[in-house]
Amino acid sequence: MHFAQSLSEGIDLRRFAVVGHRAMSKGKLPLNDLAGGAGRMDVLIRAVMSALLTSHGLRQDVEVVLHLQGGPGPHRRLKFIGSELRGFHAEERSVSGLIAKAIREPSPPIGQWIERTPGVYDGGGTLSETILEWKDSLLVRLDADAERLWSDGATLPNRGTAADQKIAFLLSDDQPLKSDEGIPRSLGSTWLQGHHAIAICHFLLDEGVQLNL
Ligand SMILES: C[S@@+](CC[C@H](N)C(=O)[O-])C[C@H]1O[C@@H](n2cnc3c(N)ncnc32)[C@H](O)[C@@H]1O
Repeated sequence: MHFAQSLSEGIDLRRFAVVGHRAMSKGKLPLNDLAGGAGRMDVLIRAVMSALLTSHGLRQDVEVVLHLQGGPGPHRRLKFIGSELRGFHAEERSVSGLIAKAIREPSPPIGQWIERTPGVYDGGGTLSETILEWKDSLLVRLDADAERLWSDGATLPNRGTAADQKIAFLLSDDQPLKSDEGIPRSLGSTWLQGHHAIAICHFLLDEGVQLNL
């Protein structure tokens, strides 16, 4: 069965790639200046929390890759794996502590992932490497101006049970995403905060809404 046609039957892994154009990639993270000196790291922190947390728990079926592109030094990636995370709390300062711990270390080369804390991996590279690593996923570039992500007339709920399906969403921070990879899809014509866009993706998948892919 074609991947997109079988989407309504259930997805067992949800991936989110978030690009931080100015996000600090190395050094001492200024915990009191995440929006300024850290290059809108606050946006990435809200995104990773929105992707991984429910009201009282952690989503096991989610991976998030934050792309830190603000320097100093080469671009860097931090990968959060829901099923492996320990000590990930619904508190921005605690999440920023996990990021701080990773980026104070030298940046690993592209192709190497080093686990800095349980479930948090540190690696080199850019969105292009992430897309290559996620070639087993249906790639969706979230873009308010594109076609809607859900199918016309989709009804709720349409939850399925099939396993081994992966979907990956590409998002940016406050700046436009400079990539034409992935199928462009919209969550409505109003541009939203990235973490709100992630929450809507989860809602559509949690409720098993038929996707327009
Ligand atoms: C704050 S928005 C970025 C706005 C930025 N000025 C731009 O033009 O791309 C952050 C990210 O959330 C996603 N997003 C926000 N609103 C969306 C919508 N209505 N539909 C789909 N994706 C959306 C996009 O991936 C976007 O890159």
